[in-house]
Amino acid sequence: MDTKKMDKEVVKEDLKWWMEDYGFFGEFYMQGDDSIEGYLEGKKQTLSERTISEVDGIIRLLDLKKGNRLMDCPCGYGRHSNELQYRGIDVVGCDINSVHLSKAKENAVKRDLSTDFKQKNMIELDYTGEFDAVINMFYSFGFFDTDEENFKVLKNFYNSLKQGGKFLMHTDVNISRIQSGKYKFDEERILTSGKSLRIIDVYDEETKKIYGKWTILGSDGKTETVDYAVRVYTKEEFTEMCHEAGFTKVTVYSDWEGTPYLEDAEDMIIIAEK
Ligand SMILES: C[S@@+](CC[C@H](N)C(=O)[O-])C[C@H]1O[C@@H](n2cnc3c(N)ncnc32)[C@H](O)[C@@H]1O
Repeated sequence: MDTKKMDKEVVKEDLKWWMEDYGFFGEFYMQGDDSIEGYLEGKKQTLSERTISEVDGIIRLLDLKKGNRLMDCPCGYGRHSNELQYRGIDVVGCDINSVHLSKAKENAVKRDLSTDFKQKNMIELDYTGEFDAVINMFYSFGFFDTDEENFKVLKNFYNSLKQGGKFLMHTDVNISRIQSGKYKFDEERILTSGKSLRIIDVYDEETKKIYGKWTILGSDGKTETVDYAVRVYTKEEFTEMCHEAGFTKVTVYSDWEGTPYLEDAEDMIIIAEK
């Protein structure tokens, strides 16, 4: 078994779990993200069905209009960026991972889209007042070791927005679900590649982080396991950080239809206005 161990000590070393060389993001992640039965218990959607409904929701909740300029960060392999560009939004997709960016560009070319993909570290973004909207999709916040670093990322998103612009953060990891025992800490999904993915998460009260592990198992019995750690912010913590960053109004939803936030919702969608 090829196992990359990651306990709290390893996180402190120079090679962070989210970096390309670590091996979590890239081919491994793209394979694991593409499961047959979807990712939410209540919604059995394929990856492309899920992307379409998320993009419908992004447009609805941010009230996006054709020609609006939007940054998707981190954009991953561009599933939201390209769909938004297709719907007439002027998208810049930023991500640190070159494998994801190549796939994003390849898909843009296939669809004849001019989505602008850039390789950037979200903690070093240097845009000022450029975008009508910034989106941070699917559990892509809280990757850094300290709260100060995670706040810096939020501040970068704030700085990137025009006055009156909106920031949308989406996550499917919600502390109240963890505390009420509804969050799945051990689950298995069948992947479209024919392999299976086992996800084991452990929440640590002290660091307020999830220490997780993805194992992809092939039909030949070969397994590959890679670990990760994400700081999980509560709705209250995140709202406070948004105000501290300078956002004036913060609204929290439970789903893409705009249902006000419910404690045990699987999705948490935060919209902060500059
Ligand atoms: C959970 S994925 C989500 C990607 C995309 N938003 C989606 O929903 O498909 C997180 C992404 O963050 C990227 N990432 C990790 N650390 C990053 C950093 N420091 N700066 C920019 N991107 C980063 C990874 O390469 C990966 O593509």
